[in-house]
Amino acid sequence: MEFIDQLRNLREQVLFKADLNIDSAFKNIVISGMGGSGIVGNIFSEIYSRKPVQVVSDYVLPEFADKDTLFIGISYSGNTEETIATLEEAEKRGCQIRLITSGGKLAASGHTFAKVPQNIQPRSAIGYMLKPLLSSFLNLPDEACLGISKLLENIDRDNNEEKNLATEIFKHRSIPVILGYHPFRWIAYRWKTQFNENSKIMAFSNYFPELNHNETMPLKDTYEKDKFMFLVFDGSQNSRISKRMNVTAEITGTKFHVISIKGRNLLEQLFYLIHYGDYVSYHLAGMRGIDPNDVSLIESLKKKI
Ligand code: F6R
Repeated sequence: MEFIDQLRNLREQVLFKADLNIDSAFKNIVISGMGGSGIVGNIFSEIYSRKPVQVVSDYVLPEFADKDTLFIGISYSGNTEETIATLEEAEKRGCQIRLITSGGKLAASGHTFAKVPQNIQPRSAIGYMLKPLLSSFLNLPDEACLGISKLLENIDRDNNEEKNLATEIFKHRSIPVILGYHPFRWIAYRWKTQFNENSKIMAFSNYFPELNHNETMPLKDTYEKDKFMFLVFDGSQNSRISKRMNVTAEITGTKFHVISIKGRNLLEQLFYLIHYGDYVSYHLAGMRGIDPNDVSLIESLKKKI
């Protein structure tokens, strides 16, 4: 599938029906996944807090994980070695195990799994991989998914804001620094990783209020400050955050580029921002003459390891 079609596919992905069929009680959740799969767990952990959720993007399972733990392994390919290592450890510890994958070793492991469609980039399958979590834990009604899908369709139709932002970054050869806030901290990180993987540029993320306790200093005094473009999500829904943004901009003399947020509820807003960032990174890749689909270096690293 062409990369642009993988992006447009997000509006279909949110209609994807999948459930993890969790049948027994658990006290805590460990979600394990790397890169474009791992971020799914991170985004989920920011909007679900009824039970403790720990996301692992590494080889190591936390010490507390035991038979009262629901272990959810997410790997689009099903072959990522770090995720497999944590799955093997979760088996030893007697965790309840559920997986989200399109195939590979995870699908062949004999555990219950939500099967997501194959043949797109893992990072483009974010909707497919999020849906089993949203359906299993947040009882998402069909109308809510239709609402998200419609909103995304509008972005697909008219991409001007996204193109303009990509043009600004391209024109100034800027390094994007995306400053999020709860519940969009991991969306800021998703933007960073999409700039990395799609546009092949360095990008960084942080979030309010934490950055007011460290990154506020270099916001005023860092060298090469005009190399960076600071992006913030419109904070007007949260008066303390929006005050922090205004005061930070004022005392550090920084201009923030504000990304408007659309959506009638949190999930619409989350997907809106995910899709917005996907398109900005895609357009930037085009402007740089770079293939947004290509992650050959990541693939050859996996083979050499
Ligand atoms: C590639 C991508 C990567 C992968 C990561 C883990 O599109 O986004 O970040 O997601 O290398 O691989 P999977 O997702 O197959 O476990």
